[in-house]
Amino acid sequence: MTIQFDSKNLSADMVGEHGLTRSEIKDHSPKATEALRGFRKISDAGAQGFPRLPFEIRTAKDILKFAGAVRGSYDTVCVAGIGGSALGAWAIDNALRGPHPVQPAFSRKNPRLVILDNVDPSFVEGALDSMDPKKTLALVIAKSGATAETVSTFLIVRDWMGKKLGGRASQRIVAVTSAGRGDLATLAAREKYRTFEIPANVGGRFSVLTPVGMVPAALIGVDIRKILKGAARMTESCWQEDLGGNIALRSALWQWLIWNRKNKPIQVAFPYSSRLWGTAFWFRQLWAESLGKARLRSGEVVNVGQTPVAALGATDQHSQVQLYIEGPNDKTFTFWAVQKQPNVGRIPKARLELEAFDYLAGQDLATLIDAERRATAAALTEAGRPNCTFTLGRVDEEHLGAFFQLLEFQTAFMGELMGIDAFDQPGVEAGKKLTFGLMGRTGYDSYRERFEQYEKRRAGIA
Ligand code: PA5
Repeated sequence: MTIQFDSKNLSADMVGEHGLTRSEIKDHSPKATEALRGFRKISDAGAQGFPRLPFEIRTAKDILKFAGAVRGSYDTVCVAGIGGSALGAWAIDNALRGPHPVQPAFSRKNPRLVILDNVDPSFVEGALDSMDPKKTLALVIAKSGATAETVSTFLIVRDWMGKKLGGRASQRIVAVTSAGRGDLATLAAREKYRTFEIPANVGGRFSVLTPVGMVPAALIGVDIRKILKGAARMTESCWQEDLGGNIALRSALWQWLIWNRKNKPIQVAFPYSSRLWGTAFWFRQLWAESLGKARLRSGEVVNVGQTPVAALGATDQHSQVQLYIEGPNDKTFTFWAVQKQPNVGRIPKARLELEAFDYLAGQDLATLIDAERRATAAALTEAGRPNCTFTLGRVDEEHLGAFFQLLEFQTAFMGELMGIDAFDQPGVEAGKKLTFGLMGRTGYDSYRERFEQYEKRRAGIA
């Protein structure tokens, strides 16, 4: 398993005044060590649990045992979940079984994964129309056990299954939630759903290696032991104090300096692999919710954050790159490259005596997509736009597990460098409570009133 980080194009040597000098890096290296030690304390105290997840072998065994027992009884896994309770499963499915809609044919041996992560009525209705309740395993995932989107879609799915299966429906429903906390745990106990627990010290966006990501992955046939193995190997290197051997820490330091000293409020995550497109969306949430904060840990109001953007190579070269090269120089770019593609995509050798076609004859798509990435990096660098590259040896279970863990550590270190709490999400909670108020949930009247005040203010504007 290899993941490399190439920071050369973040240097002043390559991008001039928008890049970092050797002395800037050297002078700030002690800050990186401090950040690592700060996060180590948090982790050792048990306040943050994601670093230990790859070593939770007992949970993995339970999940695999359950998945083995139900295998073959369904052709679709239908997840009701949102945000951190949905994006990890999508990233895994996308990376390991191929981008939608070009995955291998679905069957009881290779079940489809349908993720209901929106309450758009036509999306939910279309999903139900496309599934058979007798061949569906429903999986409701919510750490809080109360998120309005998840609860509402789950109630619809539960009813849809109940109409066809009656009392047997509850045997085909699995819940992933916090132990003994929240109404989903209560319902799961009442209706006797098979339940897996989300550890209290792991937040939604850091939970892909808990049952939140591992249960859906195992149910669609992914070897979760390999994901955890890759993550475990990465975890060991993420605790090294030596910057040279710790790419999570090194990349956090470079990104932090580029963002703050070179004023780059936007980061573009730019995978050159359709299989990593889901992971880019997973990363977008991780970076945005963890690092977009009003206050420092000291309480000082700072309103910081770097806006993550997901772009897909080579597709978005024909959609975004014009802006990236000639628009405002307010971005840093992180390419995600893959050394060994699962299939090289040979272009036929036959020549057509047409200049725009014949130079490609006999070459392959893996070489082309890599050339496109390197060309885009070169063009950005020539334009003085700082960029860097993570290169994964291949897209498989071990690399994916390692990459998840690398990006989570990088985010945690970045939070420490910034002096913020990367693990809370008061902004998300505020939106959730206003929705509860608007939809009439008991105990949320004050949020309803807050919303009414807001509407009155709007009505007062001509
Ligand atoms: O990272 C987070 O904590 C959030 O984005 C949650 O994942 C998201 O709000 C879903 O929450 P829940 O799992 O409670 O439904």
